[in-house]
Amino acid sequence: MALDRPVPNDLSAFWMPFTANRQFKKAPRMFVGADRMHYTTADGREVLDGTAGLWCCNAGHNRPRIVEAIQKQAAELDYAPAFQMGHPKAFELATKLCDLAPEPFEHAFFVNSGSEAVDTALKIAIAYHRARGEGTRTRLIGRERGYHGVGFGGISVGGIVNNRKFFGNLLNGVDHLPHTHLPENAFTRGQPDHGAHLADELERIVALHGPETVAAVIVEPMAGSTGVLMPPKGYLERLREITAKHGILLIFDEVITGFGRLGSSFAAEHFGVMPDLITCAKGLTNGVIPMGAVLATAEVHDAFMQGPEHMIELFHGYTYSGNPIASAAGLATLETYAEDGLFARAAELAPYWEDALHSLNDHPHVIDIRNMGLIGAIELEPIAGEPTKRAFSAFLEAYESNILIRTTGDIIALSPPLIIEKAHIDTLIGTLGEVLKRTQ
Ligand SMILES: Cc1ncc(COP(=O)(O)O)c(C=O)c1O
Repeated sequence: MALDRPVPNDLSAFWMPFTANRQFKKAPRMFVGADRMHYTTADGREVLDGTAGLWCCNAGHNRPRIVEAIQKQAAELDYAPAFQMGHPKAFELATKLCDLAPEPFEHAFFVNSGSEAVDTALKIAIAYHRARGEGTRTRLIGRERGYHGVGFGGISVGGIVNNRKFFGNLLNGVDHLPHTHLPENAFTRGQPDHGAHLADELERIVALHGPETVAAVIVEPMAGSTGVLMPPKGYLERLREITAKHGILLIFDEVITGFGRLGSSFAAEHFGVMPDLITCAKGLTNGVIPMGAVLATAEVHDAFMQGPEHMIELFHGYTYSGNPIASAAGLATLETYAEDGLFARAAELAPYWEDALHSLNDHPHVIDIRNMGLIGAIELEPIAGEPTKRAFSAFLEAYESNILIRTTGDIIALSPPLIIEKAHIDTLIGTLGEVLKRTQ
């Protein structure tokens, strides 16, 4: 179906994020429409969405409840000041979000993106210790290959080399745990058996600096953007044990794993490990309107609720924190997830998804396949001396073959909307298999 929407002649002004701008502008890939599992391209093709946009459209596209909520809210109350004023929907959404989250999470601080959620959580962690009279706890510990967005806090605790090395000295007082990607775990379905010991590195880092200097450890419970790395069995439990022992806050960055991706509301619930703070974004509004949140336990939140009542307790916030239209979108999104039973659906479909993904294990260049819930990664052998080129070629070829995949390095990451049907999985994986056969 060709849409009557002109594509601009001049593409030069828009400096595109995380994009090979010169390559793109020579051969642009433009979406002009989207409905449920498909995008429509400017040249009228239907492209199957294998990535839920950017891991965010968990309920698929053009969901009427969300569209209507946004339209209605824009006409009713477009904006309300976020500081010292309120509007009902932000409070309603915070309550619904905390109801959805595992039990200890009772408070939500709204932000506008995953990056802001991360920087907010790091700031809360440091300020929490100070509020309790432990102001020496300022050190932050992230992990190699971690992705925590692109703010200075996020790239400092993050461990993706290209996201860090161009940007100077970053935050000081940051250490990194080793990543959890071990070659012996290749082609593991779900959580790998080996690697829980990697969490013990935390003991070493803490001993080096003294626990009284460490504020927080932040990890993605399942690392997404670096190419889908599963936590080894027992690893997250061990991190929780060590952080608790030393009075260090544990932050789970659930920007990808939140809202059903693993078949549960949050990964914390899925793995049965409770951090002290959770960051989320993306699926909170089905990707439709920018919004994120930091979820805090009562213990963390209540530490701030002291001093004179007219005083601001946390000197932090954004003009658009809890924006009315984003809040309306968030409420409608959570209702859509519940109404369609999408988290349970993801869990039900996971075995079919797993089998389909692993059917590619004998395809050219495939050196590993990983999966959990409705997420998967196919790692390709890089072309010698030209890292990322092979996967990028596969991405371009896939787009021409009407499937949207995502690549990071030489890893293909898949994370379809949770409304995906078995027939779509067959098309996605079948087409990808053909693409791999054609990829040099
Ligand atoms: C775990 C994680 N944290 C943070 C972010 C950053 O989110 P945003 O791009 O909304 O700033 C992402 C984005 O992919 C992410 O995967």
